[in-house]
Amino acid sequence: MDCANRRTEAARLYHEVTKHSYTSVRTDGHYLDWNNRPFPFKIYPHAASLALPRELNLSSLPALKAISEQNAVDPQTPIDLDRLARLLFCAGGLTRKRKVGMEYYHFRAAASAGALYPIEIYLASGPDIAGLEPGLYHFSPADLKLRGLRRGDWRGVIAEACAMRSSVAQARCVLVLSAIFWRSAWKYRARCYRYCFWDTGTMMANLLAAANAEGLRTDAVVNFIDSEIERLIGADGEREAPLCIVALGSGSHPGRTDMDMPPLQLETVPLSMEEKNYPDLIAMHRASRLIDSTEVSSIAVDHSVEPGGSEHAPECSGLGETIVRRGSTRKFAEEPISARELEAILDNSSGHPYCDFPPLVDTYLIVNAVEGVESGAYFYSRRDRRLQLLKAGNFRGQAGYLCLEQPLGADCSALVCYMADFNRLLDTMGNRGYRAAQLEAGLHGGRAYLAAYSLGRGATGLTFYDDDTVEFFSPHAAGKIPLLMVAIGVPA
Ligand SMILES: Cc1cc2nc3c(=O)[nH]c(=O)nc-3n(C[C@H](O)[C@H](O)[C@H](O)COP(=O)(O)O)c2cc1C
Repeated sequence: MDCANRRTEAARLYHEVTKHSYTSVRTDGHYLDWNNRPFPFKIYPHAASLALPRELNLSSLPALKAISEQNAVDPQTPIDLDRLARLLFCAGGLTRKRKVGMEYYHFRAAASAGALYPIEIYLASGPDIAGLEPGLYHFSPADLKLRGLRRGDWRGVIAEACAMRSSVAQARCVLVLSAIFWRSAWKYRARCYRYCFWDTGTMMANLLAAANAEGLRTDAVVNFIDSEIERLIGADGEREAPLCIVALGSGSHPGRTDMDMPPLQLETVPLSMEEKNYPDLIAMHRASRLIDSTEVSSIAVDHSVEPGGSEHAPECSGLGETIVRRGSTRKFAEEPISARELEAILDNSSGHPYCDFPPLVDTYLIVNAVEGVESGAYFYSRRDRRLQLLKAGNFRGQAGYLCLEQPLGADCSALVCYMADFNRLLDTMGNRGYRAAQLEAGLHGGRAYLAAYSLGRGATGLTFYDDDTVEFFSPHAAGKIPLLMVAIGVPA
């Protein structure tokens, strides 16, 4: 059997060649071709559409409770079009429109690196969603509509691609989150492979919180036979590729697995005049493919929820209000947040969801200004919910430097840095572990955004100098790779 996924030099090589350093960002000569900027929406001009309800009535469950998965889940919770509209809106809906230069930009519920929005959502519905015929649909955030791609119940086919994972087979509906790489590669080139998982993670943070607020069970699945899901959604695995599957709800009769699945050949509107390929990205994606159910079963685990959250969480806004208000902070005042706020943000954003991979991410941070916490570099233990001081001091200068010399890192109250032990993730899951870890970091980062905004504070995702970040947190972080940074603080 060809076990490309276990030849982990591929992930090491991809990571190495896509590192940012002080020198690389000054010498690479890349510029943005604005005339060739990709369109951020996938449009099927000839597919039948179904409008989702626009009266959303988003959840008022305290956001900290929703993100930390502390809500009773009822296996019988039904899904109807109203509920579906809320879930899809929270994951990928349009929340704001702003004119930049001569053009309008539509911002979405979840943060996306560079506001490029490479992630598309497909939905496979079962027989018991009131108002929706079983089928495969594409979610169009631009007009809040579903477009029909295939008739029939495809949940069984998806479950089979996940080695007959029962939560997927019995879900009321299943979402597939899929990346159109070019959207992000236009700006970030081969490095965008990482960003696509971060963006999937921020969407998942919103989606899982919204599902939790509705009392729905979820299962986040990263291990599946790639070619099967590609075929289902009509992706080629190079230009577009499915990254994650989310089972929503439970207790439904499993779908059939013996569906006749002809190739999907639906016209879509081109994204830009020309699309470029990035061979390092394609090689990394290929090297992390799973080819059959034996390979899927050898990696996939049943990871039950490890809820985050503290018993005495501070007061915060409701989930719906938080998602609608969220936006990346563009400038921080150099002011402190309180220790209680930092604790609430870390504790509530660090749980592990019900999913098919183990916790891979470690949390480090630089405290610039937090009342009651000494300034310095810290490791945050997810298990004990404790901060461990690595070195004391004022590191505002270094924090700003590490995130590509952006003042946001220097001016925030705390700069959170998600990292993972490279050997451990590759030993545990092969190259697929690289995908899972990037996504997990995006999930934590997305929750940190929501937690900060629910407390009236601000946040922004940040990218970074790879090796300098590891060095800064070493010796504790030796052997780890940085995954994503999120700055938290007081908006200026
Ligand atoms: C993974 C990730 C990385 C990001 N990196 C940066 C960054 O390096 N610098 C920055 O100013 N904003 C960064 N952002 C913020 C995005 O630019 C922002 O999410 C996007 O413009 C959409 O705007 P919104 O978050 O206000 O909705 C990042 C966001 C994400 C999710």
